[in-house]
Amino acid sequence: MQISQATPAAIQRAADILKSGGLVAFPTETVYGLGANALDGHAVAQIFAAKGRPAFNPLITHVPDLKTAQKYAEFDDTAKAVAHAFWPGALTLIVPLKPKCGISGLVTAGLETIGLRVPKHKCTQNLLKACALPIAAPSANTSGSLSPTTAKAVADTLGDKPNMILADGSCEIGLESTILDLTGDTPAILRPGVITAEDIARIIDRDVIYAYDTAKDALNAPKSPGQLLKHYAPNTPVRLKAVDIEPTEALLAFGSTRFMSLRGGGHVNTLPASQFRNLSESGDLHEAAANLFAYLKALDQSAHKRIAVMDIPETGLGIAINDRLRRAAAK
Ligand code: TXA
Ligand code: MG
Repeated sequence: MQISQATPAAIQRAADILKSGGLVAFPTETVYGLGANALDGHAVAQIFAAKGRPAFNPLITHVPDLKTAQKYAEFDDTAKAVAHAFWPGALTLIVPLKPKCGISGLVTAGLETIGLRVPKHKCTQNLLKACALPIAAPSANTSGSLSPTTAKAVADTLGDKPNMILADGSCEIGLESTILDLTGDTPAILRPGVITAEDIARIIDRDVIYAYDTAKDALNAPKSPGQLLKHYAPNTPVRLKAVDIEPTEALLAFGSTRFMSLRGGGHVNTLPASQFRNLSESGDLHEAAANLFAYLKALDQSAHKRIAVMDIPETGLGIAINDRLRRAAAK
């Protein structure tokens, strides 16, 4: 695996990799992140494949400053005050996503909110400036293992999955950023970190609550942050492993639709575009993951009685795709 000291030349190479859809592991002041271009769903899908995540949790998007953050999200006075006080730094803000701003639906897991962070680390800042892209990045470890705080720890857990690992010593903080949700009635900490509820309350002169299950356990990461997350779920019922469809259903296809017929006669290829999306005609799970939330939303219309979904193999990224589809179907 290629570990490169974060020289200006190496940072430029890392930026080029991100621009061409690759994965770069890089240091921040909290933990090392595994980054991809947040505007490119295919690139983001590779993050999930590399981490072996069992589910698509939303990812934090890294930007160089508040001005850039405002391209992707709405900042009210409270959000601006918090950003001015703590950015750059170890704080992620959950704020309303700007519609059609280009961020992949896989980054936000289909939610109408986004987690944004402006890191302070010099290398992260230089990388963000060199690529001029928002970078989606979870911690650079395989799912279930510890967040890495050195380049070597990244290589130990991810092997050669990143196209490049930028090294710049060990992370100063060593604990993931505080996550503050500003989209509810009361500002709420979804993940504790070095910036505390008290620190934030002092700035905005409002109560800030801790909203995760094991408040006593504040120094350990919440055991299952996924359980606390709001999940995007279609209003239209979902039917899995469809082998044919009713004329009143919409079809979310995967792979070849040659043998998919309409009950009562006809072929699905005659359906209008509003009723038919194919996650990946070639059966590519990365492409399917990149399209999943956008296509589910497109088919989630009251005109459709159900969304029928073709079988997706339970391997690799298919496991995460099926996890989301099963949640959608169980509703
Ligand atoms: O310090 C950090 O935050 C590191 C470095 C690399 O920046 N990143 C990190 O990312 O810890 P990750 O993927 O491990 O944390 C992502 C978590 C999700 O599990 C979820 O809890 C929260 O961020 N999150 C992201 N977007 C969200 C959203 N729209 N709504 C609620 N929670 C969100
Ligand atoms: Mg993590």
